[in-house]
Amino acid sequence: MNDRQPPRSSNRGSPGVQRRSRHERSARGARGAAYDLLHEVAAEDAYANLVWPRILREANLSDRDAAFATELAYGTLRWRAFLDAVIAECVDRPLDRLDPRVWDLLRLGTYQILMMATAEHAAVAETVNLAKSVAGEGPARLVNAVLRRVVREGDREAWIAGVAPGDSLAELSIEWSHPEWMTTALAEALGAQGRRGDLVDVLRADNAPARPVLVARPGLLDAQSLYELEGVQPGRWSPYAAVLERGRPEDIAEVRNGTAGVQDEGSQLVALALASVPVDGPDATWVDLAAGPGGKTALLAGLALERHARLIAVEPHRHRADLVSQAVRSYPPGTVEVVCADGRDELLVTQADRVLLDAPCTGLGALRRRPEARWRRSPADLATLGPLQRELLDAAIGLTRLGGVIAYSTCSPHLIETDLVVDSAVRRHPGLELLDARPYLPGVPDLGPGPTVRLWPHLHGTDGMYLALLRRG
Ligand SMILES: C[S@@+](CC[C@H](N)C(=O)[O-])C[C@H]1O[C@@H](n2cnc3c(N)ncnc32)[C@H](O)[C@@H]1O
Repeated sequence: MNDRQPPRSSNRGSPGVQRRSRHERSARGARGAAYDLLHEVAAEDAYANLVWPRILREANLSDRDAAFATELAYGTLRWRAFLDAVIAECVDRPLDRLDPRVWDLLRLGTYQILMMATAEHAAVAETVNLAKSVAGEGPARLVNAVLRRVVREGDREAWIAGVAPGDSLAELSIEWSHPEWMTTALAEALGAQGRRGDLVDVLRADNAPARPVLVARPGLLDAQSLYELEGVQPGRWSPYAAVLERGRPEDIAEVRNGTAGVQDEGSQLVALALASVPVDGPDATWVDLAAGPGGKTALLAGLALERHARLIAVEPHRHRADLVSQAVRSYPPGTVEVVCADGRDELLVTQADRVLLDAPCTGLGALRRRPEARWRRSPADLATLGPLQRELLDAAIGLTRLGGVIAYSTCSPHLIETDLVVDSAVRRHPGLELLDARPYLPGVPDLGPGPTVRLWPHLHGTDGMYLALLRRG
């Protein structure tokens, strides 16, 4: 096997590529781009969403090929566990003893064969060609042999019957390509809402790419003007939401000038719920205690402005605090005070009337938006995040006045970072009252038995957000 590391773009511009027709060249370029993404994610720990626009730009693909490359690259990242289970049946050694380039090529080829409409012979031949250019003749022969075996042994259904025939959590994790600990956590969170049978629906929804959702920032833009744009539809639940059916958010002038933003509808609902809980007495000081990159801050800012409240946004990481400032740049100066600090530090503010703690979490509810995220997290993260979530919630409670409200939210339904954190706070803080959050998401069905709320991709079309509303008494 040729172990020589190829130059980064050795699959582009080689004589073999030059001789091909324009269409074949770009089709090969699409697979090369997908390979580059897998390589950067694995070898350089890159975030797919961040590096993919550059890789696509450099590949200079037609729109059709860019769409193919995106489906292939993101799909291969998402479906890794299922693809690996198939590949493991077709190679004669443990997968971690494969050349990493070959492993990625096998994943790309297997994804095309089992999960895309690509003709099988084209999937094999083009992946083998790519293997020759990125890894050499020897590895390409191995790729050829393995992919032919994948084809020979059946389609996706046949392979599922082979590698994950049952419906145990372990088998569902392979069939729907999730780490087993995540499948277990999702099952437990659904169980807490009496929706145990929904597990497959959630796993399926995690694998479906989510469309970008825009938010019209209150006081700056009427959502109606977004609906008038081509390819934009009203959201399902938030009066500020607009779903982008086609195109890219960055091409929309309102997003570029900051009067609109990109924000999942579930996140919008969390901010709107906090703002709509009645409070007795003053309603002049709002705090967003873990604000970066500022999506919820920017929505709260417009609502705070309408009510003449001041909003303080706290974020300890300088670059993320800068993103918060950027998110609120279109509001009048002074609408939001961005403070670069740890939310557990003694802050200048006390006696806040409304506090949002959108806590750092595993992101288990937003897997559909980040194709590789599920493989980056581990249960050990819960052990680190748990104390931070508790301490931040204690801090949030500490800076809220008596009668003021706190929203605790996560983009994860995991019991450990949701109900357990909130229950612990209620036990430790006499007078803290857990409110029924459901009335503050008007018109949203399937919110479960309360008092806390979980939104689900398969039920609500939103990210999997958790919300608890607490009143300090
Ligand atoms: C889930 S994100 C918040 C997302 C944000 N609310 C939005 O809608 O754009 C959690 C944030 O908490 C920040 N964070 C981490 N540790 C923190 C701490 N000790 N105090 C305050 N914020 C913290 C992270 O840097 C991250 O920006």
